[in-house]
Amino acid sequence: MSQVTDKKGHPSAPPSALDWGVPPGILVVDDEPAIRDLLCEGLKGQGYHCAVASNGHEALDLLRREQFSLVLSDIDMPTMDGVRLLKNVREAHPDVEVVMITGVVDVEVALRAMRMGANDYLTKPFNLEEVRLTVEKALEKRRLVLENREYQRDLESKVAERTVELVLKRREIEELYEKLQISYETTLEALAAALDTRDTETQGHSMRVSEYTVVIARRMGVKDPELTEIRRGALLHDVGKIGIPDAVLRKPGKLTPEEWEEMRRHPEIGYRILSGIKFLEPSLPIVIAHQERFDGSGYPRGLQREEIPLGARIFAVVDTLDAMTSDRPYRRALRYEDARAEIVRNSGLQFDPKVVEVFLSIPPEEWKAMHRRIPDTRDPTRTR
Ligand SMILES: [Fe+2]
Repeated sequence: MSQVTDKKGHPSAPPSALDWGVPPGILVVDDEPAIRDLLCEGLKGQGYHCAVASNGHEALDLLRREQFSLVLSDIDMPTMDGVRLLKNVREAHPDVEVVMITGVVDVEVALRAMRMGANDYLTKPFNLEEVRLTVEKALEKRRLVLENREYQRDLESKVAERTVELVLKRREIEELYEKLQISYETTLEALAAALDTRDTETQGHSMRVSEYTVVIARRMGVKDPELTEIRRGALLHDVGKIGIPDAVLRKPGKLTPEEWEEMRRHPEIGYRILSGIKFLEPSLPIVIAHQERFDGSGYPRGLQREEIPLGARIFAVVDTLDAMTSDRPYRRALRYEDARAEIVRNSGLQFDPKVVEVFLSIPPEEWKAMHRRIPDTRDPTRTR
């Protein structure tokens, strides 16, 4: 038997363990002892293992107990003829090839057998050289079929393996990305809380306004990634107050005109601080425009109406709501209803009427519940 090789000519795994290093087994089935013995001896002489059976039943019995690669079967036999045997072999032993042996008169039957899955047929009388060539051809065909199947199976298992690897890698990357996002958010929230503490001695304002901004933005049809950009902008809106001296930022009384000048620089300072931080760049328009007013009387650029980014227009409304409804060191929180009235009064002046409309469409209980979810936390290290 020739060695099995893959497509590059290297020895490959055997298509079937039966064939590897073991001469193929051939089962000769014929009711005439002289013919089957002649065939079997001839095949043994050519290096094959050979067994004989005198009819289809005997043959199936042997096939169940021993491994064969090929059945050479007479067609015309008593008890179970060759055609029925062929049918049984195709069903129960699909990897076993069948070559039919027929008398000249049976050629029609032999052709029918071919249609039923026989590999080839030999016509009596035959010589051993003819048998050798037919057997070799049948075994070669079987080898190619098995090898191809093994190759396919190997390919499929490799594809399945790679697919699993890719899915796992993708999941790993997604998890890492999620962790990175969480770590970004936590850092931003810590920074915002620190800013709140310095400014008002309480924490929670920045977190609340960012949440409120998202609630309104979502109702106005904003979706991610813009939603996240707006949320981050609202969270970090006052980052520029880092650049305002305590004497101004924390002055208990009224600010002088010069001090106001100083204070009004904080949106631009914030913009400069955050510029160059790639993932925060889309949030910069909100940071720089968060003190603008709808009627153009805000700062630093005096933008009006839709010139002001939507995120900043939404922020302006919720910033007023939260500032009025939160405790401050110098006054107690006002009622939601007071803040609501103030917002309505300034609709079209300080605030975008469309944003005010959406704000009013959310029931007061919802706003109050949101406020309770993120309470003011007074900094315990401050005594003033
Ligand atoms: Fe501000």
